[in-house]
Amino acid sequence: MSSNPWWQHATVYQIYPRSFADSNGDGVGDIPGIISKLDYLQHLGIEVIWLSPVFASPMDDNGYDISDYQDIAPEFGTLADFDRLVAGAKARNIGILLDLVVNHTSDEHRWFIDARASRQSACRDYYIWRDPAPDGGVPTPLQSTFGGPAWTFDLATGQYYLHQFSTRQPDLNWENPKLRAEIYAMMNWWQQRGIAGFRMDVIDLIGKDIDHGITADGPRLHDYLQEMHRETFGGKDLLTVGEAWSATPDSALLYSGRDRGELSMVFQFEHVTQQWHETWGKWQPKSFDLVAFKRVVDRWQYGLAEDGWNSLFWGNHDLPRAVSKYGDDTRYRVESAKMLATVLHFLRGTPYVYQGEEIGMTNVPFASIAQYRDIETLNMHRQHVAAGLPSTDFIFGANANGRDNARTPMQWSAAPHGGFTNGTPWIEANPNHATINVAASLADDTSILAHYRRLIALRKTLPVMRLGRYQSHLQSHPTVMAYTRDLADERITVLANFSPSPITLDLPVELNTQGELLTSNYPHTPAADSPLHLAPYESFAVLTKDS
Ligand code: GLC
Ligand code: CA
Repeated sequence: MSSNPWWQHATVYQIYPRSFADSNGDGVGDIPGIISKLDYLQHLGIEVIWLSPVFASPMDDNGYDISDYQDIAPEFGTLADFDRLVAGAKARNIGILLDLVVNHTSDEHRWFIDARASRQSACRDYYIWRDPAPDGGVPTPLQSTFGGPAWTFDLATGQYYLHQFSTRQPDLNWENPKLRAEIYAMMNWWQQRGIAGFRMDVIDLIGKDIDHGITADGPRLHDYLQEMHRETFGGKDLLTVGEAWSATPDSALLYSGRDRGELSMVFQFEHVTQQWHETWGKWQPKSFDLVAFKRVVDRWQYGLAEDGWNSLFWGNHDLPRAVSKYGDDTRYRVESAKMLATVLHFLRGTPYVYQGEEIGMTNVPFASIAQYRDIETLNMHRQHVAAGLPSTDFIFGANANGRDNARTPMQWSAAPHGGFTNGTPWIEANPNHATINVAASLADDTSILAHYRRLIALRKTLPVMRLGRYQSHLQSHPTVMAYTRDLADERITVLANFSPSPITLDLPVELNTQGELLTSNYPHTPAADSPLHLAPYESFAVLTKDS
């Protein structure tokens, strides 16, 4: 692979197909809907689409429970639609990343149907079965991410099977070489259809050693990834990104080190989990701590400075809306959404934009549990309420951090349901689509959308934005983030006020704000001398050259 792979200057856009664009009025987004929006995505400037799962699935977890890896769910379209999507995207210089969900399948996958038929079945060992504990109970105390035990008893064959997510998402047994070979064959089949790479769902769980209580980052994880690389995408110049909630800067070097033969990069979540309650997790949000956040950014930017590569993101389909979480989604929505974009896109790594982020979509103010659709939220609501938590308290947490915030329909226009569907959407649209939508953003050259276009274009043209050495400044300042990027005689300086209050700052000499203003979220130019005044959520980036 060349020393500067193409994905270092590309920006990735994530599509959650169910919520993106509905072409036939059944209330569910689909592949023809995505095809109809390719011109919009080309205009935005992105070069890769990460497509959340579109495979055949009973949709217990909206497609993260796959029943056939080599077919498309009928509500999303057909394989012919998929091929049209790949071709239409390619014609616009956009590649498609498939979501590879291989830690588990659906319980309706033919492998699992066979496996549970008898202990002697050919596919029995594709899954993880254990005898009951001596008292008949679960083999280990492990809990599932979606609530309840991670083991479910199968009456017919008298053993428990493992599922780290819902009971309908049985974990695959990666220790079985035949299973691994089937997965690699499936990956190669998709590669031949012309995809640009894979996003790998909870990939840090595949090397588990369940009898020793190890789930994430297990002993054989990197052997499997190296084998997968050899057997599938090795030498093919694809983008591969693994979801790894357990990743640290050290382990990220194992996954994404230049000569390791594993992945291009991983998604790490330290900046996300640092804001969760120690015991109650995301259902009890903590308030944002910028100093702690900057420490995490520094750890990763410095940790992968020489080798490996960062992925950069504020949101995805499992996380709250960026502007609601890290900015101010009422009074300073536009300013703070642009500020967050600036801060992220000038870091070293590959940026990921989650659908709707580019127009500043916000969390959704659902008032009743009946409005939610997400299996995790519904299960956890049941569990917390049974344990005595008032439902309104749970909904407060779900409104802040629940996954449905990211899954309300994409807001295309002020039309009913944000123009997402002519029918009844599977989940309600955010009422603010009347003002926050793509049509209005396209008509306004100071919109958040215009700001994203500029950042995405700058990354393609400025080598210092891709490769410059990162250095952070003002680390202990409670509301300002500042960093520089250096390459040869060029330096980019980024300054951002993370607060709704104006700030006056004595600038250290190494932070020079005089140069070419690359981008800003206020109409004025930053003043020439210290002290520097920053308006609420003001941020800008300046390019200077040594002369
Ligand atoms: C990942 C996905 C999430 C899914 C889970 C189980 O975390 O991003 O949406 O529910 O894996 O597949
Ligand atoms: Ca549809």
